[in-house]
Amino acid sequence: MSRHDARSQFRNRVDWRASLTALALALGLGSLVLAQAATRPEQSIKWRQSAFQVIAWNLQRLKVAIAADGDAHEIQAAANTLAAVAASGLPDLFAPGTGHGKGWRETTAGEAVFADTARFRAQSDEFARSAALLARLAAGTDRAAIKDQFGKVAKTCKSCHDKFRETE
Ligand code: HEC
Repeated sequence: MSRHDARSQFRNRVDWRASLTALALALGLGSLVLAQAATRPEQSIKWRQSAFQVIAWNLQRLKVAIAADGDAHEIQAAANTLAAVAASGLPDLFAPGTGHGKGWRETTAGEAVFADTARFRAQSDEFARSAALLARLAAGTDRAAIKDQFGKVAKTCKSCHDKFRETE
């Protein structure tokens, strides 16, 4: 083996080790960033507040369209959006350690959310089921049934807020 070959082989090995180190660093930093993203309370609070704003927007769309005996596509679109967000796994955004702090604003989640997670999940599931039924009805033409189910969905908002939200 010539000296030139030996040197280039050595350089290759060094390059190889350098890129392995870079890769390990990149992987390490990557998982660190992920771990932080998963636990940053501010982000969870922002997401859940945003989700509830989209929920409120679509409940309002439904209220207006149903009262006006309006366009079926508008009612379907709003009901489908409501059902999708209701079933998006909202309770997962209320991890321990997110009971206090600021998202878009100071959280209004009550202590009960974190003290009684099983009931909070059950309440959220009931909301998702109720919104799913509304979406199914909205695909049909029975306006009386749609109106009735809309009233039931709106009640699930209030009953959860009464127990799990502190607004004053
Ligand atoms: C399973 C319980 C639950 C259900 C069901 C529920 N909410 Fe809420 N809602 C909450 C909690 C808890 C908060 C506080 C979130 C925070 O600030 O961290 C909240 C916050 C909100 C907010 C304020 C968001 C912000 O920007 O601060 C609005 C608006 C809202 N909900 C509307 C609704 C409407 C409309 C419905 C029904 C269609 C509904 N919610 C159903 C528990 C619920």
